[in-house]
Amino acid sequence: MDNVSVKLAPSILAADFARLGEQVAEAERAGADRIHVDVMDGHFVPNISMGPVIVQSLRPVTPLSLETHLMISDPDLYLDEFAEAGSDSLLVHWEGNNNLHRTVQRVKALGKRVGVVINPATPASVLEEILQDVDQVLVMTVNPGFGHQHFIHTTLPKIQRVRQMIEQIKPGCDLEVDGGIDATTAPLVVEAGANVLVAGSAIFGDSEGVAAAMKRLQAAVGKARSDK
Ligand code: DX5
Ligand code: ZN
Repeated sequence: MDNVSVKLAPSILAADFARLGEQVAEAERAGADRIHVDVMDGHFVPNISMGPVIVQSLRPVTPLSLETHLMISDPDLYLDEFAEAGSDSLLVHWEGNNNLHRTVQRVKALGKRVGVVINPATPASVLEEILQDVDQVLVMTVNPGFGHQHFIHTTLPKIQRVRQMIEQIKPGCDLEVDGGIDATTAPLVVEAGANVLVAGSAIFGDSEGVAAAMKRLQAAVGKARSDK
């Protein structure tokens, strides 16, 4: 993966909600590829975050793609609502979904990009039959539910396996990672084959600000590639 093609997806979970539009604009100016919106229902994960109203509020203030990570039970019930609010892509978990193929087809029927997410304990092999139908895979590198957690290093060989599957089954499919991504872990996941990095606290929690944080991440990814 060359560093030019590695994309950053700032997660607004770590943003200052009192000035959310401003924070998204800062990320956009600093070269963000897309904005990652973490939706949690207090049931699928032990935390509650935001709903379609946030997507609706952000839609007019940024041209960036709004990627919606649904950490909710029964995502099918909310797909239309998020699509109408302005989500460009909907990411749904493999875990807890007995009819994942149907969910994926519903997202496609709404004209949105679709991604499947797998948790740290879920093997890459579950993606084999669904990969051909999706635009992206998201490998969780922490257990979903909270920002600012430590990166789980045992996910690295899985990222490599997913990269191999993508090359064989669906070249062009994005391989995104989410959780504990910072200037130290970013080079590791890129090396393993990720081409889209979600980062929350490493971008919005940086004491020097969003632009400096984005630059640091971009440099870390670039250095890893040039050291090779
Ligand atoms: C975790 C969320 C992540 C979270 C990442 O459940 O899916 O997107 O915001 O936060 P950091 O980058 O702080 O680990
Ligand atoms: Zn997320």
